Amino acid sequence: MTRLRCVVSVAVALLCGACTADPGPEPAASEQTATDPGAFRPGEVWRDVDGQVINAHAGGILYEDGTYYWYGQYMEGETWAPGANRAWGGTRVDVVGVSCYSSRDLRHWKRAGIVLPAVKDDPSHDLHTSKVVERPKVVRNEKTGKYVMWMHIDSEDYSYARAGVAVSDTPTGPFVYLRSVRPNGHMSRDMTLFKDDDGRAYLFFSSENNATMHVVLLSEDYLEPTSEWKRLFVDRSREAPAVFKHDGRYFIVTSGCTGWAPNPAEYAVAESIMGPWEVEGNPCAGDGCDTTFDAQSTFVLPVADAPGRFIFMADRWRPDDLPDSRYVWLPLRVEGDAVSIEWKDEWRLDSPAGATADR
Ligand code: GAL
Repeated sequence: MTRLRCVVSVAVALLCGACTADPGPEPAASEQTATDPGAFRPGEVWRDVDGQVINAHAGGILYEDGTYYWYGQYMEGETWAPGANRAWGGTRVDVVGVSCYSSRDLRHWKRAGIVLPAVKDDPSHDLHTSKVVERPKVVRNEKTGKYVMWMHIDSEDYSYARAGVAVSDTPTGPFVYLRSVRPNGHMSRDMTLFKDDDGRAYLFFSSENNATMHVVLLSEDYLEPTSEWKRLFVDRSREAPAVFKHDGRYFIVTSGCTGWAPNPAEYAVAESIMGPWEVEGNPCAGDGCDTTFDAQSTFVLPVADAPGRFIFMADRWRPDDLPDSRYVWLPLRVEGDAVSIEWKDEWRLDSPAGATADR
């Protein structure tokens, strides 16, 4: 079985840089700490407070009591291309697990470790090193008090196409893996989780061989999909969904479907989370907008205690050296139904105009 994807090619040589995921003793001039320890420098090497390169790709963030928790794919080891994926440039690293970092200011992160590790001794397990574990997202269930993680689970050739769920008593794990499902019998690949103000949570996922996205309401404990679901963006081949809410309206940013290669983002707006969703176009403006600034969406983070301020989180993939993939975090502005994201070499969260100011 092959994965039917609208993949064209992978931008390879372009992206190969000199830096590796191994932390060196001294930060190089191009690193996030170079000019201002409080500034974000999108696309540059970003180290945690102990000097190790942050390793949390295709991530998402949970906020609780003044602390942000960043979960993502821990990518390590050799990047290689399984035979079945060569035609569409599907390189991989074997699964290590889901990592977690914590921060109070979003700029300085402390590593909490691998909160959901790969399984090494059972090749049939969803979390076996030979599988695919991508785009982990975590929300807290107020009724059960549990932290619930959903993620994309797949086989090496992406034909398994399922959504996995794990649960923990604390935000920093350990998470216990429960199972994977095909929600209402449908394929599930790139995904995200969204928890609404009323406590309901939803899973958005690329389905129908990535042609059409689905949204499904989760059960009260967030551990199962319910039968309440809708098809979105029919035949538009969207993936990498990132959902947020502003002024009572729902927004989603997605990427096109070109594997690790970047493409233009698109956003849509809805009055109801189940739709109808109105496609508005590319939120990115200026140089680099055709490739989402050489990156792919993963999450839109509402800044705590700052209504209307959002950070667009994206991944700048390095298909030939996946562990050296970078994070592109940029201010995201919403005015009415209009969403805009502009490139900044460097920006601060605490600048007078908030997350949107240049330095
Ligand atoms: C992308 C997807 C990533 C990963 C990659 C593999 O399209 O967004 O999460 O699956 O393909 O090539």
